Amino acid sequence: MTDSILFTPVRAGAVTLPNRLVMAPLTRSRALSGNVPNPLAATYYAQRATAGLIVAEATQVTPEGQGYPDTPGIHSDAQVEGWKSIVEAVHAAGGRIYLQLWHVGRVSHPLYQPAGALPVSASAIGIKGQLYTHEGMKDYVTPRALETEEVPGVVAQYADGAAKAKRAGFDGVEVHAANGYLIDQFLRSGSNIRTDRYGGSVENRARFLLEVTEAVVDVWGAERVGVRFSPTGNGNGMWDADPVATFGHATERLNRFGLSYLHVIEPPVDGHPMSVPPGVPRVADHLRGLFKGTFILNGGFTKELAEQAIAQGRADAVAFGVPYLANPDLLERFRRNAPLNPPDRDTFYGGGAKGYTDYPFLDTVAAE
Ligand SMILES: Cc1cc2nc3c(=O)[nH]c(=O)nc-3n(C[C@H](O)[C@H](O)[C@H](O)COP(=O)(O)O)c2cc1C
Repeated sequence: MTDSILFTPVRAGAVTLPNRLVMAPLTRSRALSGNVPNPLAATYYAQRATAGLIVAEATQVTPEGQGYPDTPGIHSDAQVEGWKSIVEAVHAAGGRIYLQLWHVGRVSHPLYQPAGALPVSASAIGIKGQLYTHEGMKDYVTPRALETEEVPGVVAQYADGAAKAKRAGFDGVEVHAANGYLIDQFLRSGSNIRTDRYGGSVENRARFLLEVTEAVVDVWGAERVGVRFSPTGNGNGMWDADPVATFGHATERLNRFGLSYLHVIEPPVDGHPMSVPPGVPRVADHLRGLFKGTFILNGGFTKELAEQAIAQGRADAVAFGVPYLANPDLLERFRRNAPLNPPDRDTFYGGGAKGYTDYPFLDTVAAE
């Protein structure tokens, strides 16, 4: 057993985390017909209930918000019912669980869209490359820029998803403003060349994020709403001319809500798929300095790197993605300095129980 700052409690708005390990949101593409969450998710998340907080996988707030196969939604009654059992299982196991509210924007394809429409985005700028669909790999298409008058309707879709997440019994929600999805497409200069009130200056590019956050806060109260950023991530064709200014401004504006937390992806090490690209400045410490609330860091953290970041005041808690995917008892393994299960990348997306609910716990390993 080790004494570690990781095992001490921390407040995140209205919720007290009994330890500083957060399970990062992880898309697993196992939803059933109608994008109803898979009942196996009850076992999967309950197995991980010793995390200080679980942020459940990205979940589309509207059918237009989908861009990957079999991702769950939070826009139909059947989906709410599916989530209810999952949340109950996590609570019965003593855990806390937020839902990540998602709209992929341009990271989609007409094959995912109702009536085969074009995906929407901040601007009509496509991503180079291909995406996976039920009909195989397809080129990304050029999205349709949302009309100014349409934006409030999309904000309302996030509010509706937030209300349905509340009905499902979640402890809170995380607004997904990271990884090149719709809110990020509005935030960053590389994907937003709008000339209306939602584009141009950093103030205008942050407006959509702030309107969504306000609408979600109206449903939940700020103390149960987190926001996730990936200021330096370049996945999904993302870049920004000045991430320090863009995300600095957005963070300062978020301060007025008094949110549950801000969650920032910025690996402290090179060589991780989400590491800060060469020539791009690191932003996380700057945002930490600006944000008046609980600050969660993520990306390539080990137990030691997490302890360091918290001890140095660079974060209050650390989220683990792949380590949590493969280690339901990550907390206990960290406590005992035990080895971690290796992740099986072939079962990350799609399939059933294999690579989902069958990763061994320490005690099962010891008993074998
Ligand atoms: C299989 C997989 C699914 C992911 N799904 C999501 C998601 O739904 N929402 C999100 O914000 N990030 C998602 N991510 C990113 C993770 O939350 C996390 O930022 C990333 O894995 C880096 O953390 P790690 O090094 O601890 O794994 C996903 C990553 C992986 C590997």
